[in-house]
Amino acid sequence: MSARPKDLQAPFDVARVRADFPLLTRTVHGKPLVYLDNANTSQKPRAVIEAVDDFYRRFNANVARAVHTLGDEATTAYEATRDKLARFINAPSRDEIVFTSGTTQAINLVAYSYLLPRIEPGDEIVVTTMEHHANIVPWQILSDRAGAKLKVAPITEKGELIVEKFIELLTPRVKLAGVVHVSNVLGTINPVAELARAARKRGIPLLVDGSQAMPHLPVDVRALGCDFYALTGHKMYGPTGTGALWARKELLRDMPPFFGGGEMIREVRFDGTTYADPPHRFEAGTPNIAGFVGLGAAIDYIGSLGRERIAAWEHELLEYATAALKTVPGLRIFGEAEHKAAVISFLIDGAHAHDLATLLDHEGIAVRSGHHCAHPLMQFYGVPATVRASLAFYNTREEIDRFVEAIGRVRKLLG
Ligand SMILES: Cc1ncc(COP(=O)(O)O)c(C=O)c1O
Repeated sequence: MSARPKDLQAPFDVARVRADFPLLTRTVHGKPLVYLDNANTSQKPRAVIEAVDDFYRRFNANVARAVHTLGDEATTAYEATRDKLARFINAPSRDEIVFTSGTTQAINLVAYSYLLPRIEPGDEIVVTTMEHHANIVPWQILSDRAGAKLKVAPITEKGELIVEKFIELLTPRVKLAGVVHVSNVLGTINPVAELARAARKRGIPLLVDGSQAMPHLPVDVRALGCDFYALTGHKMYGPTGTGALWARKELLRDMPPFFGGGEMIREVRFDGTTYADPPHRFEAGTPNIAGFVGLGAAIDYIGSLGRERIAAWEHELLEYATAALKTVPGLRIFGEAEHKAAVISFLIDGAHAHDLATLLDHEGIAVRSGHHCAHPLMQFYGVPATVRASLAFYNTREEIDRFVEAIGRVRKLLG
């Protein structure tokens, strides 16, 4: 018997959920919007918009600087999000949550604060073919600086990581391995716990890019057993310019700061400055305070829906959309992993991805076309771009019907 609260056991009421998202009521080119670009950024529920608005209306002040009431209220609200996020990902301590502007900054923080002081010529870093540029380029820059080498674990045609090959690459020269939890192009859910066990056995820290997992799956960093988990707030219904790095306390403790400035110091002297403890050591300057207050509201909102329920509903939508798309002649889906989140990349014979996306926009349907910041993955499949429909829990079967019908019309236009 489940001990979960009653409202989390009820069927997913998508109509009620949609009513929480003001933007979903708008039209585009005279048609009701169908927003299928959620992997790019998701729409924001009223609770998030109101939290940001409320911050500026009632208690806007800088954090951790002022003793006055507004400063105290702003700091309390900002720091409350750290507690919420720690609980949300089951982090052992709130002090292991470093606020960043997003995943990109979080990964760069690991590159410069953790790895740069440790890496030597001839050392290696391992990533996979399906990484976003955010989990490739920082390692390339670092490898060039340090004389190290980036090694790439291969994937199958279906878009699944070849786990044995990833593990084979974990040699004694490897100083860090990185993997995306959920691919932003293929939707593939990688077996992070298994990879983390293999890396741990060899004493190699594993960094997980959780950008696309956070909006779709329950994430538990203790159960995953990884060492670093990078995430971005705007894809999980929070404001842009928010995100975090979770890292084990013992790793953070030994990391020097990456950015220097206000708020990250203990004492500044011209003969030697000392730094604050983590996480503040890594949070120089005035942060996106209102954004983090909004992120706290997003976490509460997702929690109120229930992440298992979100995952189950999105899975239903994914299966429905995949089956419908497979009936379209000449349509090829990229990414058919057994464990997959609600992201569908595709192409149609003879049609350019950008033309498809542009014509769909004229039908009120927002999808992304392009390389999705994953050039190496495009090179793997031998295509310059794909069209990507990425779903969220507020999408409906009716929207998918409209999307597939529109593809049928667009295909004829382009054919
Ligand atoms: C898998 C993945 N990693 C990293 C990023 C970068 O996130 P941000 O631009 O919010 O830093 C994205 C965003 O598209 C992503 O999908």
